[in-house]
Parts: sequence; C-alpha cells; structure tokens
Amino acid sequence: MNNIYLDYAATTPVDERVITAMQPYFNIRFGNPSSLHQFGQQAETALDLSRREMAGYLGAMPSELIFTSSGSESDNLALRGTAFASREKTGANHLLVSPIEHPAVLATARQLADLHGFDVTYIPVDEFGMVSPTMVQTNLRDDTALVSVMHANNEIGTLNPIAEIGQLCRDRGIPFHSDAVQSAAHFPLDVNDLKVDLMALGAHKFYGPKGVGALYVRSGIDLIPMLTGGSQELGLRAATQNTPLIVGMAKAFKLVQVDHNARTNHIRPLRDHLINQVLSLIPSSQLTGHPETRLPNHASFVFEDADGNLLISVLDAAGFACSSGSACKTGDPEPSLLLTHLNYSLSWAMGSLRVTLGKDTTSDDIDAFLEILPGCIQQVRELKS
Ligand SMILES: Cc1ncc(COP(=O)(O)O)c(C=O)c1O
Repeated sequence: MNNIYLDYAATTPVDERVITAMQPYFNIRFGNPSSLHQFGQQAETALDLSRREMAGYLGAMPSELIFTSSGSESDNLALRGTAFASREKTGANHLLVSPIEHPAVLATARQLADLHGFDVTYIPVDEFGMVSPTMVQTNLRDDTALVSVMHANNEIGTLNPIAEIGQLCRDRGIPFHSDAVQSAAHFPLDVNDLKVDLMALGAHKFYGPKGVGALYVRSGIDLIPMLTGGSQELGLRAATQNTPLIVGMAKAFKLVQVDHNARTNHIRPLRDHLINQVLSLIPSSQLTGHPETRLPNHASFVFEDADGNLLISVLDAAGFACSSGSACKTGDPEPSLLLTHLNYSLSWAMGSLRVTLGKDTTSDDIDAFLEILPGCIQQVRELKS
C-alpha cells in the first residue's frame, strides 16, 4: 500500500541535517544558557548564534527576536503583549484582525474581548479570503492598539498584501502583527520589506522540530510579557530556553533560505497539475482560496455533497495523508468556520480537502493520488446519499 504524505501544512518531517545539528545540545552541550560556567556558556553561545543567524535572514537585529514554544505562543504573545502594553500606555482599546486567522490569533482576540474588554473589529475579506488594504484603512481607529493579518492562510493558502497593510499601519503609528507560520517554508521573510512590527514563526512547518517558534518584535514596540519569571529572552519570556530545539529551528530556517527557489520550482508545477486535474476529473468541485496568489505548495478544494472527514479516512486507508481544513479541525463534524465565513453553503463547506506538498513530494506521488481520488470521492458521496 502507498504511504504518501500530502499534509505539509499540518507539519513537516524534521530534516536530517537539523537532527544532526540539535543532537549535541541534548546531552553533551546540555548546559543552562543562563549558567555562568562553561556548560552554560556553550549553550548561550549556541543561542546567540541561532538568534543572530535567524535575525539576519529576517533583516532584523538579534535583539528583536524572541524564542518561544510555538507559532501559537508567538501569536498569543504578539496579541496579548501589545494589546495590554498599548492600553497601559495610551488607553488604546481596539484590535483589528482578519476574521479567517488561525485560532491562535482568533481565540486570543476573542478572549481579549470577552474577558478583558477590548473592542475587536473583524476586517471584511473577499471571496478568496484576502484582506484588502482599503478595508484595513476603513477600519483603523485612533484607539487601535494592534492590527493582525496573517501572511498566508493555512486552510485555503491565500496570501495577503502584507507590505501594503504594514505601510498603512505605519502611517498611523499602529503596531502591525503578521502570522507567517505557513509562509516561512516558502518565501524569504524580510521584516523591512514586509513592513511588519511583529511576526510569528513556528519551526515544525519548515522542516524543524515541533514545540519551538519565534516572534519578531520591532525595536520600540512595547510588549508586556505573558510568561513572567526570569529575565530570559530580554525579559519578554521567562523560562530556560530549549537550546536543542532553538538550534534546530535556526538550522532549519537557514536551510529554507538556501533552498527556497529550488523547492518552489519543484513544488509549484506539481501543485498546478494537481489543481487542474482535480477540477477537471471531479464533478461538482471547486478550488478554495485564491487561484494564483496562494502558497506554492497548497491545493484546497470543496466537493459538493461529500463528507470531508470521511474522505480523509478513505484516503488514509488508500495510503494518502491529507487534511480537511486545518489540522485542529480534523475529526470535527462542524463545517469549517472559514468556509462558512466565505459563504460556502453547508453542502459544499462540509466537503473540504486540503492537499499540501513538500520538498520530498514527487510527480509519481501526485499521479498516484490523482488515480485514486475520483473513486474515493464517489465512494464518499454514495455513502452520504
Ligand atoms: C497560520 C498558523 N498559525 C499558527 C499556527 C500554530 O503553530 P504551532 O503549531 O507552532 O503552535 C499554525 C499551525 O497550524 C498555522 O498554520
């Protein structure tokens, strides 16, 4: 049986070179980076180097990069940290977010509204889930504490015009956060080109380990720490740093910078072939998200009158790992909130499929997938009727 992984937006396998780079920091150079002896110094040196390298690729200063435990934590820190700091400093009480952000942003914004009295506005998006700068401009207020718009959507792959939105926020002196967790595997992310003040990354989406992430925070942006304790991470995140995972993330990030173009040139034509074939082979099928302005590895569809979760099980049994919406939604019988927000009716929104390719995906994998997909969808549709 096949065993083909087509769910790289959920997570990626750790690159062998990353594992090798991490290894000594578990048991040989295992010191606490805050310790003064040589074990500690070794770990601190590795942390400094990791920070300098990653910051360099981002066009940032090392002091502008905070290591965290995940993309989710980075988003949480960006939202909570700036919301509370802005309110403390200026009384700003308004958050402007896109309504189709990852739950790490959406649920945080909701809690800030429900428990802490922030006023949240959701920016209207178009049918592809794209945020227009004009809509951001229309909804900015003098008391806006933060704008948060993701770089690339995890569920439908659409890319947003981050630099234009960033410029608008900058003109008004309002901090701008972007969740770049999905895009880090595919694009160079220069914080100055993108005009972001805060940007979240998570290593496991770019062939690094799980449980480690980073938050870029532009110098001068005020942030109240969410984890209090020791003075690690410039006093913005207490807790002994996870040196092996951070070393692994920095190595993975470096490899991505070197391989971006080659990887995209390999993946994009496979992805285009997949999309064209699915739309022509499967009756009552639609692409979700933007047809062109989307992640190069990302194909997402809805099929009318098909149960997406059942389809994932049928595909899994046939040897193909895909997803229905975002990873967190798998097993959830509700239609995707995002697709509902984009006005897909229930009979379409329930039948979503996300196929995401990676550096190791081959054209044979895609051909094998295309061979079995029509039969799997037919099977799922028959079971439903
Ligand atoms: C866009 C986006 N933001 C945030 C996250 C959360 O990242 P992590 O799994 O590192 O917490 C994900 C993961 O699916 C994501 O796709």
